[in-house]
Amino acid sequence: MTARTIFEPFRIHSVEPLRITTEAERRLALEAAGLNLFKLPARDVLVDLLTDSGTGAMSRDQWAAIQHGDESYAGSPSWSVFLEAVQELFPFKHVIPTHQGRAAERIIFSLLGGPGKVFPNNTHFDTTRANIEYTGAEAVDLVIAEGRDPAALHPFKGNMDLEALDELIAERGCESVPAVFVTITNNTGGGQPVSLENLRGVRAICDRYEVPLFLDACRFAENAWFIHEREPGYDGVAVADIVRELASLADGMTMSAKKDPLANIGGWLALNDDALADRCRNLEILTEGFPTYGGLAGRDLEAIAQGLKEAVDHDYLRYRIRSTAYLSDGLQRAGIPVLQPAGGHAVYIDARAFLPHIEPLHYPGQALAVALYLTGGIRSCEIGTVMFGRQPDGSETPAAMDLVRLAVPRRTYTQSHIDYVIEIGAEIAERSRDLRGLRITWEPQTLRHFTARFEPLRMSV
Ligand code: F0G
Repeated sequence: MTARTIFEPFRIHSVEPLRITTEAERRLALEAAGLNLFKLPARDVLVDLLTDSGTGAMSRDQWAAIQHGDESYAGSPSWSVFLEAVQELFPFKHVIPTHQGRAAERIIFSLLGGPGKVFPNNTHFDTTRANIEYTGAEAVDLVIAEGRDPAALHPFKGNMDLEALDELIAERGCESVPAVFVTITNNTGGGQPVSLENLRGVRAICDRYEVPLFLDACRFAENAWFIHEREPGYDGVAVADIVRELASLADGMTMSAKKDPLANIGGWLALNDDALADRCRNLEILTEGFPTYGGLAGRDLEAIAQGLKEAVDHDYLRYRIRSTAYLSDGLQRAGIPVLQPAGGHAVYIDARAFLPHIEPLHYPGQALAVALYLTGGIRSCEIGTVMFGRQPDGSETPAAMDLVRLAVPRRTYTQSHIDYVIEIGAEIAERSRDLRGLRITWEPQTLRHFTARFEPLRMSV
């Protein structure tokens, strides 16, 4: 018997129209944006796979929860609902709400960072790295070797290289390592999960050196689903229990509620250390707000609390992970090399392998992202030399990989939207030799991928 289709465990309740554009219109929009897809007006995009962050569809029950939003400045009932939902899954002593994940990062790294400090992670996300480097500290990526090879197959490609972590702390001294971070799932390394076994190994090293362990837990539910599916002994364990086990191994976490918690905005910092939590709250008041709302409206706190309950539902997660794998399978059938295995929230095209005639410093990922938009109105995101090539000393080097991420917003697009994306990928694959590299004509000092401007290289280059 063939396996049955895993379909969306929901019906559509409200629709948003898409504006169909022509290639000529898209060419004009691209030129105005300096070939930078972050600068495109979203109304000029057909299928927006730029990010899965804050772009998901909320449920009926989340919209209903919003009506319970209480906008009291201090001690709102919505804060209690939020706190209870967070601690149900992540039983840390202190929960500090923030307007999004990077605000939690800014608070914790301004207190723990500074020159001479080093923060290991499996792979730092770009805002995490930027917030660390902004304090003068160093961000070091220590994912296992398989996690740096797009074609390597490994069930937990987001795992930390335990030997390298041990060596780094021994070499730099534990007083220079204020915390170890583990990103679940490892977004920049391909949305790949971390196993509980590996996290226990990280915990043991942290215990030995008395260094705290923090989770960057944006995609905790997808990571827990992969553990449920792939880690021996966990197929009968509820995802919510797996999440609690992940949390029990850490001393704190940063979170963007725009990802797995199924909200459009929000985040938090959570930790067990009383004294550090006090200092975090003091800093939070400066820029985020009073510690019972942290830059969020009461209604946002309600939407997040309800989203957290839905995020660990097995039928939802089975559909979620399958729909991402469906996109990955289709692109591979069209002859496009994609990072193996498919990630939880996104498919990553290996642009360096797909466009070997474009050298890394001519940005093969950006060239492909531009082609996907021009051909089909699909917005994707380069994660490669544009994002990571500029070094703190001003030099430019190729990133470890040149990927193009197609991030799948949660509960937003249907299977036919995804079939369309696969068709556009197949069209580009047929004429991939014609794609040209780019050069940057303007860039800012940090996080250049958001605002840099590009132009195509001439054929003779
Ligand atoms: N950590 C990870 C692993 C992330 O993926 C993100 C955001 C953040 C932290 C920061 O959270 O956006 O709420 O401030 N990632 C988005 C993305 C932007 O497209 O992958 P934020």
